[in-house]
Amino acid sequence: MNANLVSDEVQPHLADIIESIYQKYGYDFRQYAQAHIKRRIVNTIVMSGLHDIAQFKEKILTDEVFASKLLRDLSITVTEMFRDPHFYKTVREKVIPVLRTYPFIKIWHAGCSTGEEAYSMAIIMQEEGLYDRTTIYATDFNQHALSKAKEGIFSIERMKEYTTNYQLSGGHEAFSNYYTSSYDSVIMNQSLKRNIVWANHNLVTDSVFAEVHLILCRNVLIYFERPLQNKTHTLFFNSLINGGILCLGSKEGLQFSELYHLYSEMDSQQRIFKKKY
Ligand SMILES: C[S@@+](CC[C@H](N)C(=O)[O-])C[C@H]1O[C@@H](n2cnc3c(N)ncnc32)[C@H](O)[C@@H]1O
Repeated sequence: MNANLVSDEVQPHLADIIESIYQKYGYDFRQYAQAHIKRRIVNTIVMSGLHDIAQFKEKILTDEVFASKLLRDLSITVTEMFRDPHFYKTVREKVIPVLRTYPFIKIWHAGCSTGEEAYSMAIIMQEEGLYDRTTIYATDFNQHALSKAKEGIFSIERMKEYTTNYQLSGGHEAFSNYYTSSYDSVIMNQSLKRNIVWANHNLVTDSVFAEVHLILCRNVLIYFERPLQNKTHTLFFNSLINGGILCLGSKEGLQFSELYHLYSEMDSQQRIFKKKY
């Protein structure tokens, strides 16, 4: 079927499909940006050669392999090491001095995807001599992505780009010190993995699980509608210690939130906020 035709056909059923996914599998996409969810559903229908929307609706409820592939597709897992290097440079310059004042440090990567962001932070903490007293909680609701993150095996092809990102972020070591190459892959060093706790956590349906000094939730909230962004900000606010720091993605903000006045801006360009005392 042609994607435009499918798109027209999906529209009146969209809310119903999202509700069935929630009722059957507990994944709540009701307050995600609808255009994004619709695009993914249309793509699934076209790629799997289904005849009509009725067939898709039946398959979603009866074929668990099909459903789990769709659920995986509904989460965009694009990520990279030291993504937005200037953000990480600002972390080194402005966030690390604050973290250094604590006897132990808890960091939460919410929506960590395949883990590149958590490994980047582990490298910074190691270089700053803080890693021994740091615990990094790296969470996502996509179990497939989390399993990859835990393995810490990445394509060797991306290492050139990651080395450049690392250097632009202020790194001075040889980036290759942090992994071992094997054929077309690299495996991240055990010394980086040792203080990372990988866990399945859904920002829509799960609650606070720890009190942390720093939260990084980057390029996740852009997929949420405003009420869900607000709900997630409440979760983050309740998870941060007083004086704790929240880092968002370059297209994400806090100004619209009623919690905004309870934070000060540490770096408005890099979207770094500090919870007031
Ligand atoms: C585009 S990736 C961003 C990865 C990383 N934070 C970065 O900036 O490179 C978005 C991640 O958010 C996760 N995500 C989306 N909705 C979520 C939810 N409700 N709970 C937890 N993770 C979620 C997705 O599974 C995906 O891995």
